[in-house]
Parts: sequence; structure tokens; C-alpha cells
Amino acid sequence: MGVFGYIGKSNAVPVLVGGLRKLGFQGYDSTGVAVLEEGRILVAKSAGKLAELEEKLNGRIFASTIGIGHTRWATHGKPSESNAHPHLDCHGDFAVVHNGIIENYFELKEWLIKEGHLFRSETDTEVLPHLIEHFYEGKLETAVRKILTKIEGSYSLIVLSRQDPGTLVAARKNNSLVVGLGEDGYYLASNFSPILQHTKNTYIMEDEEIAVLTREGAHFTDFQGKAKEKILYEISWDPSAAEKDGYDHFMLKEIFEQPKALRDTLAGRLTDEKVVLKEMDLTPEQIAGFNKVAIVGCGTAYHAGLIGRTLIERWAKLPVEVDIASEFRYRTPLIDERTLVVVLSQSGETADTLAGLREAKRLGARIVAITNVVGSSVSREAHDVIYTWAGPEIAIASTKAYTTQIEAMILLALYLTQAKGTMSKEWIREIIAELKKIPDKAGEIFTQVAKVEQLAPLIKEASSAFFIGRGLDWSVALEGSLKLKETSYIHAEAYAAGELKHGTIALVTEETPIIALATQRDLYDKTLSSVNELKAREAKVIGFTFEGNDSFGQSVDEVFYLPETINELAPILTVIPLQLLAYYVSLARGNDVDRPRNLVKSVTVE
Ligand code: AGP
Repeated sequence: MGVFGYIGKSNAVPVLVGGLRKLGFQGYDSTGVAVLEEGRILVAKSAGKLAELEEKLNGRIFASTIGIGHTRWATHGKPSESNAHPHLDCHGDFAVVHNGIIENYFELKEWLIKEGHLFRSETDTEVLPHLIEHFYEGKLETAVRKILTKIEGSYSLIVLSRQDPGTLVAARKNNSLVVGLGEDGYYLASNFSPILQHTKNTYIMEDEEIAVLTREGAHFTDFQGKAKEKILYEISWDPSAAEKDGYDHFMLKEIFEQPKALRDTLAGRLTDEKVVLKEMDLTPEQIAGFNKVAIVGCGTAYHAGLIGRTLIERWAKLPVEVDIASEFRYRTPLIDERTLVVVLSQSGETADTLAGLREAKRLGARIVAITNVVGSSVSREAHDVIYTWAGPEIAIASTKAYTTQIEAMILLALYLTQAKGTMSKEWIREIIAELKKIPDKAGEIFTQVAKVEQLAPLIKEASSAFFIGRGLDWSVALEGSLKLKETSYIHAEAYAAGELKHGTIALVTEETPIIALATQRDLYDKTLSSVNELKAREAKVIGFTFEGNDSFGQSVDEVFYLPETINELAPILTVIPLQLLAYYVSLARGNDVDRPRNLVKSVTVE
């Protein structure tokens, strides 16, 4: 979750611990530091909070002035002391801290084991020090450059070596890394927060860049070794803004993290032809034996489950039920060993969801968990786990957890589809090609943030707002309305667009903002009819659709055009402006965006 490095004149251990305190502001599960002293790399690690690491370090006198540290949010391997970073090679020559995911670690690890390397953790990161050990020929920078040609994935990493005692080497790809230039030395970190207490002068590392820091200076190159000129920035953020990477709120930060979270969740799970879910332990025969799927979750997770239902039914041709977890047990669900139960939970600790999981297990079902927290109760109790690699979600209003849960549902739906052979290989190729573009398309939405901000005043004073849509748009409407109600406290409801005329339209006046979603091309005309019914009652309609849906665009009062994608992948994109809308309305109403009243992040009581 956070990497930190220091080289300079001060005692490194207090500097590293102070840095980790700033980095690990919330949501980490283990910590560790490595320093170089009297020609040896000394490592201290702890599962749990930083205080436990400090306790271990207490009373030990260190004189080192170079070291690295890490706060971990588990991805590969449960939270434990052995999985905590820094990781070492076989002989304690190299120590590495790393944020991100090494996608091809499995193959690399197998190869390194054959070469005689001894692994001590379950992490993907541990391949890095062993690779460096393998390729080291007298210069750390050269060895690091060499291993970057072997690894695939995203990373910000820092390497400490007893072979090059006065050097830290760092590299980044699809992850963040900044360098601080202080009076007492150089600092390296995954964000500004641990650096700003020492210096405001920073270099921002670009993608595919290597930094080599010595006590004499810093030099930067690209991955091929070509020197890079860097601009020194003066950062004027206050420390709390730094915790949020300069965003005003965690919710906004997490909304903006979605392209990365979506990319990480797909990482290593797609070839051009198929979905590869190494974590699933189901044979094609077992999959063929399922006669239905049941999906269980609460709140936002339940909404992601609704999308999963449509996709699994449409593609894998399996009947699907979706339940709110707190209701699941009470309707005596018809579940048995032929049912695949999918349990969705960001935290993996929601009491209702856990109770649903246990009930389904008691009834003999096969359980797949989709969760964001490695080692969570849900992940431990399920038979199989698909992790969403969204990183810690701090804001109570869930954003990146939802879009990555949809992605995980898409992966699972495709996995079942390819095993059952219910769709052609050509069709699967097309979906996968489009799925790979989704993280970038999510990023494109941020060029229109100002447009969403301008919509907030239209909703801010409303006492009630309705979200409408058909098919998958209705599922997204439910999530959009939950976002608005929990952050802004405005009464918001979602309706299947065709259902409005059966009662709810009586509530609609010119004072009622309507958020109309129209991304399902086969349903454009039907949704347009609903919009026209609402316009006839003087309602103000804000529409979300794709370019080309002209009749819809001309019928609504305001229109937001989303980046084009296929119907089934549209929910991931459609929800992003709705999350932004909820954020800006909440802000305009002066609410506590990250901590809305009466809510907690994880509901651990039934
Ligand atoms: C949504 O913004 C909420 N934070 C809430 O509905 C949440 O999704 C629900 O409590 C389930 O949490 P979980 O995913 O951690 O199980």
C-alpha cells in the first residue's frame, strides 16, 4: 500500500517509522523496514499495526542512514509477518519493497526455484530480490534495469543492497513514486505524505522511469538507460491533503483511482482468447453440474450482483437469483450442491453477507467470494476467491469497489461461459478486446468532470430525485440513487423506467430531478418513451447515454455523453459520472462527504 525509502545523514530507522506512520494512515495490514548496518541488511517486520513494529524496534540502537520501509495491503498471500515487506534474496544481499502486482510472478517463481532460489513468502514481490540476485553483476542499477525486462505488471519498487551500500534504486510503472530532496537526504515514497514533513522539494517520477539515489545526488533514466532531465516541484499541500494525494476527500480520490483499480483487477486474468482465473478450482465437469447461481451481497455489493445476474444468464445460460444478504436466509432459498453461490463483499466482513455464506455452505453449495480484502472472513470461508484489486477503500460511499466488483462478475460470467461453451470463441475474443479498453475509457470520463459539477446545482435543493433506466441501466440506477442518498441525504429512488407509470409517476413534479440512463441500445426507444412521459409532467431530466442517441439527447434537459462501449460493459462507465454527481451534490450541501451520518464502512452486526 505504501513504499518509503531514505538515504542521507540522519538515523534511518526513526525517519522510516515516521514515514510509514504517514503512509499507513488507514487500511494497511502489516509493516516492515530494512536498513543497512555494518555491511548487513537488518529487517524488522510485523503483521498488524505500526505500533507493533515500533515495539519490536524499541530498545534497539541503529546507526544506519539508509533504509526502506513498507505498509502492506495484502494482495498475493495473507497478511502475515512472512508476507510483509521488505523481502530478501537468498543471501540477504538485496531487500525490496514493492507496491502493485507482478502479473507473471508465478512463472518467474517456478523458474527461480528450479535455479535453486529459496522462497520464504507467498507474495508476488519476493521474485524481485531473487531476480536481482540472479542478474547482479556488480552494479545494482544495471541488475534492476535487467529485471524490469523480465517482469510484467504494475509497480513502484525500491531496492536496498549491501553490495552497493550507498545507493537506493527505485522504479515505477503504472504506479506512483515521488522523490523528496531534503537538507538531510533523499526520500522516496509512493505519495507525498511521508515526504512533506521533511521537504517540499520533490521530483515526480514518470511511468517507466528509474531513480538512482546516492548521498551525492539523484539521477533518473528511462528503462533503457537514457538519462532524463527532471523538474523540481515545490509542493504546497497541507499534510491532510497529502494523505488524500491532494484530493479534498477520499471519495473523490477513490473515484479517480478507478482506471487503475480496473486495470489491476484485470491484470493477469485475460489472454486474447480467454479469461484465466487461476484462483478458481473448478473443473469443467463441476461447472457443467451447476443448475443455478445464487448471488448474495448488501448495498453496493448487491447492486453489482444484479449486473452479474444479467451477464451470467445472458452469456452462460444459467438461471441466477440475487438476494440482499440480510433477506437471503429468511426466504428458505432452494440451494444445494448443484448451486454456485457468489458472495460479494468489499470488506469481506459484513455480518449479513457472512451469515448468507454460512447458510449456503450448510446447504451444500459451492461458494465463490468476490472481495477486496485478502484474508477477510469471507475470503477464508469461501471455497474460491476472486479478489478485486481496488486497493483500500476509505470513504464510506463505495466507488472503486463497485466498478471492480462488476469487473469481477464479468470475469466470472466469461469463465463460466467459456467452460460451458455457450458463446462462440469469436464472441469471447471480442468481449475481451473491449474489456481491456475499459480502464482507459473510465479515465476518459474525467475530462468531463466540470460538466458533472455543473449539474450539481440542479439537484442540490431537491427533496426527492429519481433515477430511471431499463435492463442493466436499471441496476446502475439503483447504485446511483444509493450514492446520492447516502452522501447528500436527498431522498433518491431508482425505478425500472417502464414501471414509473404504474404508480410512482404521481410523485413527479417540475421540482423532481430525474436522472435517466440510456446505454442499452436495444432499449433506447423504450427509455425515450419514459423520458417523454416525464417531460410531459414538467420534470427536469438529466440524461446519460452514448453519442448517436440523438432523439434521447434532444429530449432531455441536460445530457452527458459516455465513452462508447458495448451494452454489457456500459455499467462500469455509466456509474462514474453518477458517483461524481453524488460527490458534488454532497459537497454543495456542506455534508461530511467521507463520513456520512449514521453510516460505517463495514457493518459487522446483523
Ligand atoms: C455503499 O456505498 C455502502 N458503503 C454499503 O452499501 C456497502 O456496499 C455495504 O455495506 C456492503 O459492504 P461490503 O461490500 O463491505 O460487504
